[in-house]
Formats: sequence, C-alpha cells, structure tokens
Amino acid sequence: MTSITKPSNTVRELFDAMSYGPAPESDAPVRAWLASHGHRFGHFIDGVFIEPRDGVHFDVLEPGSGAVLAQVAQGSAADVDLAVQAARAAQPAWKTLSGHTRARHLYALARAVQRHARALAVLESLDNGKPIRETRDLDIPLVARHLYHHAGWAQLFDSEFAGYAPIGVVGQIIPWNFPLLMLAWKVAPALAAGNTVVLKPAEYTPLTALMFAELVRDAGLPAGVFNLVTGDGATGAALVEHPGVDKIAFTGSTEVGRRIRTVTAGTGKSLSLELGGKSPFLVFADADLDSVVEGVVDAIWFNQGQVCCAGSRLLVQEGIADALTEKLKARMERLRVGAPLDKSIDMGAIVAPVQLTRIRELVAQGVAEGASCWQPTWAEPADGWFYPPTLFTNVAPAATIAQVEIFGPVLVTHSFRTPDEAVQLANNTPYGLAASVWSDDINLALDIAPRLRCGVVWVNSTNLFDASAGFGGYRESGFGREGGREGMWEYVKAVRVPVITTPYESDAAPVAAPVTDRSAGLPSLDRTPKLYIGGQQARPDSGYSRPVHAQDGRLLGDVGDGNRKDIRNAVEAAHAASAWARKPGHARAQILYYIAENLSARADEFAARVASSSGASAIEGMREVESSISRLFTYAAWADKHDGAVHDVPVRAVSLAMHEPIGVVGVVCPPAPSLLGFISLVAPLVAAGNTVVAVPSESAPLPITDFYSVLDTSDLPGGVINIVTGQADRLARVLAEHDNVDAVWYCGSHHGATAVERASTGNLKQTWTEWTPREWGDPRIGEGREFLRRAIQVKNIWIPYGA
Ligand code: NAI
Repeated sequence: MTSITKPSNTVRELFDAMSYGPAPESDAPVRAWLASHGHRFGHFIDGVFIEPRDGVHFDVLEPGSGAVLAQVAQGSAADVDLAVQAARAAQPAWKTLSGHTRARHLYALARAVQRHARALAVLESLDNGKPIRETRDLDIPLVARHLYHHAGWAQLFDSEFAGYAPIGVVGQIIPWNFPLLMLAWKVAPALAAGNTVVLKPAEYTPLTALMFAELVRDAGLPAGVFNLVTGDGATGAALVEHPGVDKIAFTGSTEVGRRIRTVTAGTGKSLSLELGGKSPFLVFADADLDSVVEGVVDAIWFNQGQVCCAGSRLLVQEGIADALTEKLKARMERLRVGAPLDKSIDMGAIVAPVQLTRIRELVAQGVAEGASCWQPTWAEPADGWFYPPTLFTNVAPAATIAQVEIFGPVLVTHSFRTPDEAVQLANNTPYGLAASVWSDDINLALDIAPRLRCGVVWVNSTNLFDASAGFGGYRESGFGREGGREGMWEYVKAVRVPVITTPYESDAAPVAAPVTDRSAGLPSLDRTPKLYIGGQQARPDSGYSRPVHAQDGRLLGDVGDGNRKDIRNAVEAAHAASAWARKPGHARAQILYYIAENLSARADEFAARVASSSGASAIEGMREVESSISRLFTYAAWADKHDGAVHDVPVRAVSLAMHEPIGVVGVVCPPAPSLLGFISLVAPLVAAGNTVVAVPSESAPLPITDFYSVLDTSDLPGGVINIVTGQADRLARVLAEHDNVDAVWYCGSHHGATAVERASTGNLKQTWTEWTPREWGDPRIGEGREFLRRAIQVKNIWIPYGA
C-alpha cells in the first residue's frame, strides 16, 4: 500500500520562511583577464605597459575574502618622472588637435567602457568590495556618461572656452571609494580641454584603472596623453612635487589635501581639492517617512558609507524622531551584507583592514562618549572585511562621531525643533560638501537649501550625480568643481596678450631722504588717513603710522600701520555685513554705479593724487581714474548678470547651479596701479555679494585712503569694504591664516604669494595669487568673467520635478 506523504511546507509556510539564495555574478572572465597578465601589472606610460624602474610590486587584496588578487607596481620618483616626460611630450600635439578630433577620442573611450562594462563592474566589485549592483548600475554607467559628456565639451571647446587654453600636464590623484568613476571625473575634462594626464589610483584599488589603460591603448589614444603610475602615498607625493606638473587634481582625505596645498604653495601649480565631508540629512516633520527611510539607506549604506558626501548626520524634527528611528531599525534589520558579487546584497565589504579598524575605533569612541549604538541582530560574514549598518542616537553635537568623518556605514542622529535650529546644526561642521533636505513643503525645502553651506543640496533625494552638474565642496571639503561647465574651468587657463614675465617688485615705499611737500607755498592742511573698518575710519591698533613717499622721495603723508588686531576687527566687520550677499544684484549694481558717479565728480582730485603717488603724468593719472570708473561700471553691469545655470540631468529633476558668494575675502592689491588695481579686485567681489578686507598698495596707499569718502557718500553699507593699510605681505599672511576669511586674492611678490598659499591650509581657503603684473588698464585682461568666476562658488541644488 502506498502512503501519501504530506508536503513538508504549505505555500504559506514557504513564503514566511523564504530566504534569499545566493545570486552570484560570475567572476570567471575577470579572473581569466587577471591570469592573462600573470596577476602582475606595471605602469602604463607613453602608450605601453612598462615594469617599474626599481622592480618593486605590492599585493592588491580582495576585500570580500582577504585573498590576493594581483600585484601592482610601486611607482618611484623615477617612474613618475618618466610619465610626466611622456605627458609633456604629448601635450603640444594633443592640444593642437581640433576639438572634434579630441571629441572622437573621448567618444571612442566611452564606447569602449560600455563594451566592457560588465568586466569593469565585476573587477571593481572584486577590488573594492562594493556590491555588483552598484558597480553595474551606477559606477560604470556614470563613467561612460562622463566620457560622453566631455566628448561634447571637447567638440565645443573652441567656441565655449574662447580665450582659454589647456593648463598643460595634469597630475591626478584619486581615492579608493569610486576608483573608476573618480578616474573618469578627472580624466575626461582634462583631456577634453587639451591637457595630458598622469594619474595615480589609490593603492587599494588600482585594477580598473589598469583595465582602462588597456582600453586607452586599444582605442588608439595618442601615446603619452594618458599615463598611469600605480603606487601608494609616496608615489602621489612624488607626482605632487614634480616640477613638470602644471596642475594637481586631488580627491581624498582632508589631511592629505592640506599637505598637498602646503607642498604646492608658491610653485604656480593650479590645484583643485575634493576632500572629506560630514554631510547632513535633514528631515522635517511633514516628510514622507517611507521615502526618507529609503533615502537614508542610499545616503549612508550605499558603498558601505565610504562616500565623501555620505549623509552621515541624520537631523530629524523632534516630533517624528522616534517614529523614524523605529522605521529605520526595521529596515536595517532587513538589509543584507555579503559577498560583493552577490546580486541581491545591499552592502558589500569595507575596502581594507585599516579602514575597518578605523570604523571600529570610532564606533567604540562614540559608545565611550555616551551615545547609544544600535546594530541589527544578524551577524555579518566572517570571511573578508565586513561591518554592519550602525545607528547612533543620543549623540551630542560636539561628540567625536558627530564631527569626524567615519567613512563607514555609521549614521549619527540628532533632533531639532525649528528650521533655524536645523540649519544651525547642519552647518555645525568645518566641512561643506553636500546635504539632503526632506520635506513635502517645497517652500520650506527651498528656503533651507540656500542656507546650507555646501556645494550640493539634494531636495527629497540623495547621492544623485551626473556629468552635467558640478560636484565639489565649500570650506574644508575643498575647492573646485567636477562635472558640467563649472568643472571644465578647472582645466583651463586664460590666454593673456601681452604676457608680462617680470615679477612685481617689492611693494615697499622708496626710501629716499624725506622732503616735505611744500610746493604750494602754504603748508598743506594736515590730513591723517586712518583705516576704514565697518564703514568708519579707525585708528590703527598699533598707534603707529607709516610714511608714504612719492617716487622722487618727497614725503606725501602718513597712513595707519595696520596689524593683526586691525585685520581681526575688519574681518568681524565684514562678517557682520553678510546681508550684502542677500541683496539683489540690481541693488548691488546701483551702489557700484553710485561709487563710480561720486568718483567721477572728484576725478581731477583723484587724478592728481594718483599722479603724485605713482610719479605718473597728470594725463596718466586721469587715465587711471577714467579706467577705474569704467571698471566700476563693468561690475555694476555684471552684478545682475553673472547668473547660474539649470543643468539638464538625466533623471526627473533639474539641478540649479547657483552662483553664491564665497563670503569674506581678503584682497591684497598690486603695488601698482594703486587705484585701478584696488578697484579691479574689490569691485567683482562686491558685485558678486562678497564682503572684503582689502590691503591697498603698500607703496601708494593714498588714493585708496582718499577713496573712503567716496564710499561713505555712495550708500555702501558699512563693513562691505574694509581697508587696512600697512605692510602688505605681513597683513596678507594674517588674512591667509585667519579661519574666518574664506578666500584670499593676492597680487605681489613671489615670496608673498608662497607665504599666502602655505598659510591658507588652516581652513583650506581658496587662494588666487599672482606675482607677475597684468596690463590692468587693458579691459581684456584687467576685468571680466575671469574675476567673477573666482568671486563665486557654485552650489548645485537638485530639485525633483515632473511626472
Ligand atoms: P588618502 O587621502 O590618504 O588617499 C587618497 C589618495 O591620496 C590615494 O591615492 C593615496 O595614495 C594618495 N596619497 C596619500 N598620501 C599622499 C601624499 N602625501 N601626497 C599625494 N598623494 C597621497 O585617504 P586614505 O588613507 O585612503 O583614507 C583615509 C581617510 O580619508 C578615510 O577614512 C576617509 O575619511 C578619507 N577619504 C576621503 C575620500 C573622499 O572621497 N573625500 C576618499 C578616501 C578617503
């Protein structure tokens, strides 16, 4: 007799117990590729793979298992030198190719990336530990998108960047968190603009860059245009120090960014830095909490939280904080951490043991400092380097875990009561990379977005990136943008005709025997120019004055000898005048026109002052005054026209590229021309909404101390322009060291420029230094967009729209 066996599970039981089976992506083709290279790679220089000069290699490990994947070359200074020489030799021909030809090359690379997309995705997951779902659907498609987008900029280069040329040889140093994507962000704009490149990938994740080098070779890019030198920080340092490199583009830690700023100071190398972050994720009470939860997953558990713009600080409005925490815990309980090549996992492995240790230590510190730590009940895999998603509540805003970039899957939460408090908490960090704002009230979201001090804001979304929209930070998150037209500016320089190569002479007053000016018969009525701070004349703190002599040695008068305290007062006054940034461009224009009008009314007097200060003729003096009036008109004209853009990003959103003022800017004016030099630098900054602390020409400050009264009669709010006379280089240094000064523009000696760049690392302020004079009188050189572009920073606000 046959017995009927009862199925062990009902459909219901099966459904309830359903667990994920593994869904591994095959790694066979990629392992075969590694084997075809004998698991060993050299550098890619001048179109060929070569062995490192001293033959040293190191192991590259697989985070998902800890096994050795391959050995790559440790680049020495000699290897870097070879690569720079190859890039230098290739640059003249590359830049003289037509934009169309460069576009075809970039297009070919984009196509090659797409043809090999799956291999690149698998290799990236193996090498970095991130889930194949991310490399397949995000990293590699975005790599192709960047190459296509910049093929477009190459095509349009001559028309859209008329008057600009490539910088030359660019050294690029990238991190391990988005290895191939960071390569594309850097290489595509550099090549589009006609530069050649030496790239150093991160030591943990060099393999996709090596595969890309093969694609470059096979796609027929001219030899030497793209060079790849692998190695660790020492290799990066050799690239930074190489005198044949014209620009360094770096993404990585703020600490290394600071070091690079110090090393490049005074070398004339241009620099862009994309550094760390501690980005806020703001949730208001009316937000859709289920969408918020998915947003948080993307913000902090994407790429295991190893994302410079990770939304690592969750700021929640008080009434919904508990509800959101509960929803988050429920979601975290269902996240899956596992083998990077498993297509159904949410989180992969941490890139390296050192990074895992750092995460563990910071989490332990958070607990020791009194915060509550929550992790899901399941255990992460034991092989490889895994860390579970982690949530901290009860975190004090000053706690280490609330301030330091953890660079792991660790979220800290705070609550806030009002929108103002939210903004305050969000900005309570030295970083300024990105932020997310969640609210169903668009008015509220759009009120908050411009108040956040960071380079990218996502409204009801997070971690959206595209080649057409600039990405980059404010403050200690670095400077420069990657992507879009704004990113292209990082790889070009203005072409100046005529070019002056003789450096500025020292800006010290001539020291001939003083003879008091009594040429008018009667002794002139004594005037005592002071400093100009907060709209008022102020005596210098030192109580000392400095004599000012004419070129022939006659004593023209005295000015205040400003010091550190005066600069501090001026910076404070400039901050207090920050409402200037919120004035409409039209209102700023009116005031600039008014200044011009009042200067024009006293043109004869200023012409005489300029002439006596500089030793120029009366006609030349008048010419400088007329040029100054015209320049004020130029920036009045621009004040309501230097507007941003709306980027066409390929999701249902627009990205508003807003031009925001940088903040308080220190300006050290060129020794000559005194009046025109001052106005050429101060007017664009003020037109763009910045407030300024200016140090006028040390040798000829009197036209500027006379200028106070013009400002006083022109409705300029006190504190927008502050003027401190004295020793220019000494004051420049104080400005560069000051953490509440957001940028410094310096025109003066090479020595002074070096000191400014070196001293700027405290808050990683932007600097613009020049030690060779310009033809300031020539409007093609002394005014225009070049100045305005430097006077703003771009904030991209992503706003979802449409159906
Ligand atoms: P890192 O800043 O040391 O490394 C980034 C790149 O710079 C790598 O290619 C490295 O070889 C190179 N490098 C290191 N020292 C250098 C030097 N002196 N001169 C020139 N190049 C140099 O970052 P690391 O050690 O990999 O990570 C440490 C921390 O940095 C992380 O925990 C995270 O907080 C932060 N980080 C931030 C990144 C971002 O995208 N903002 C990316 C990577 C790390």
